[in-house]
Amino acid sequence: MGNRLAGKVAAITGGSQGIGLAIAQRFAEEGADVSFCYRSNKAGADEAVTNIANTGRKVAGFQYDVSSVNDGQKFVADTAAQFGKIDILVNNAGLERRADFWDATEADFDAVLNVNLKGLFFITQAFVKHRMAVKAGGKIINISSVHEELPFPHFASYCASKGGVKMLTRNLSIELAPLGITINSIAPGAIETPINKNLLNDPAKLSALLENIPLKRLGTPDDVASMAVFLGSEESNYATGTTFFLDGGLTWNYQEQ
Ligand SMILES: NC(=O)c1ccc[n+]([C@@H]2O[C@H](COP(=O)([O-])OP(=O)(O)OC[C@H]3O[C@@H](n4cnc5c(N)ncnc54)[C@H](O)[C@@H]3O)[C@@H](O)[C@H]2O)c1
Repeated sequence: MGNRLAGKVAAITGGSQGIGLAIAQRFAEEGADVSFCYRSNKAGADEAVTNIANTGRKVAGFQYDVSSVNDGQKFVADTAAQFGKIDILVNNAGLERRADFWDATEADFDAVLNVNLKGLFFITQAFVKHRMAVKAGGKIINISSVHEELPFPHFASYCASKGGVKMLTRNLSIELAPLGITINSIAPGAIETPINKNLLNDPAKLSALLENIPLKRLGTPDDVASMAVFLGSEESNYATGTTFFLDGGLTWNYQEQ
């Protein structure tokens, strides 16, 4: 338990499992009140609410679909109404769909882009309007991916969405700086969460991946939460418009045998 986020209110998209859940829990342990939304994992959301409440912080879990602009706006409005304000926005909700490029469907493209990029765009806009209305700065943290930089064959829509997040982060850092709002991204490598269940259940694929990671392990949701606490705290005040890679060395791993 610490107090690096004491007195802050954080809104986190996708807090019912995986990385978003770890961030919600750690933020509360650092003194923040936490609101999160989720798509469908009600059991995970209920458990998160119970565990976070045990830290003594205020918590709320809303079932809102961030691919709907209206739902995203409601998430921000409901959180601000219930908690009085939002200081930190964590755009974490995301998904991926695997397909050879020539087989990718419009439905899959829309599912990925509407959550990972469009939803993030309009929730961020709602958060910025809220901070403008209360005449205060704030912090935005996007959970991007190493695939904002690194190709991932058969996941073209995912890479396009995360590349979009990279550019949006840079662009908004300039536009929001006069408002006292910073925006940064975290680019995780391979993290042990439900999004990777196929990989985690395939020992051959998993050991091939571990061969490519210089630190020879997957990341944990808590590894990502540690960086998110830093970016949500005053310690990161001079950082904006950049991406912090957390990948065990994966992205720049090049060696000759
Ligand atoms: N796990 C990894 O290896 C990894 C690596 C790089 C980046 N990421 C990114 O981290 C983020 C979290 O991923 P994760 O691994 O925890 O995945 P996950 O599948 O375990 O969790 C995803 C979360 O997003 C939420 N979500 C998805 N669609 C939503 C929607 N339409 N509306 C509201 N919420 C929605 C879910 O409710 C869930 O809480 C994603 O943006 C993902 O791209 C993950």
